[in-house]
Amino acid sequence: MFVGIDIIENDRFARAMQRRPQLIERVFTRQERAHCLAKANPARHFAARFAAKEAVGKALGMGVPSWQEIEVTSSAGGKPGVRLSGATRASALSAGVGPVSLSLSHCNFASVAVAVINRMVDPGKSNVELRMADEQS
Ligand SMILES: CC(C)(COP(=O)(O)OP(=O)(O)OC[C@H]1O[C@@H](n2cnc3c(N)ncnc32)[C@H](O)[C@@H]1OP(=O)(O)O)[C@@H](O)C(=O)NCCC(=O)NCCS
Repeated sequence: MFVGIDIIENDRFARAMQRRPQLIERVFTRQERAHCLAKANPARHFAARFAAKEAVGKALGMGVPSWQEIEVTSSAGGKPGVRLSGATRASALSAGVGPVSLSLSHCNFASVAVAVINRMVDPGKSNVELRMADEQS
């Protein structure tokens, strides 16, 4: 099992968003932006997703090569998931990375994310055995 964790100060993230409005479009996918902007306090949901991308990067052991290629999804019930795409997904598959699980939490001052990679499979079998977390349901 591989674990990654990250924590972000909400106020600091909100200030960064105000200072650099392009940050949101650069880092977050259209679906992530829609999810966060629909909330009463978007900054903390963005901060949680920023933490999530860092946490997933740590669990993958490859950092965050592309912000948008690690996407946080939300089920109808609000449960977060991870969708990898592009070169990040390809690298994860070739490394034999299994489904990525994610948990988020936020309060007034901080947002945290924990990512867990449930298994590593034989890289030679990964293309047939792997299902990323977003494909589970
Ligand atoms: C899910 C729940 C426990 C969140 O607790 P909370 O203290 O209000 O909020 P936190 O700040 O700790 O967590 C918020 C995050 O929880 C996550 N979350 C929401 N619903 C979830 C669910 N059903 N399962 C897992 N995670 C969930 C989301 O990622 C959310 O952040 P986001 O809106 O930015 O995506 C709460 O909304 C709840 O009790 N829901 C109803 C019961 C339920 O579905 N429980 C399942 C988990 S045990």
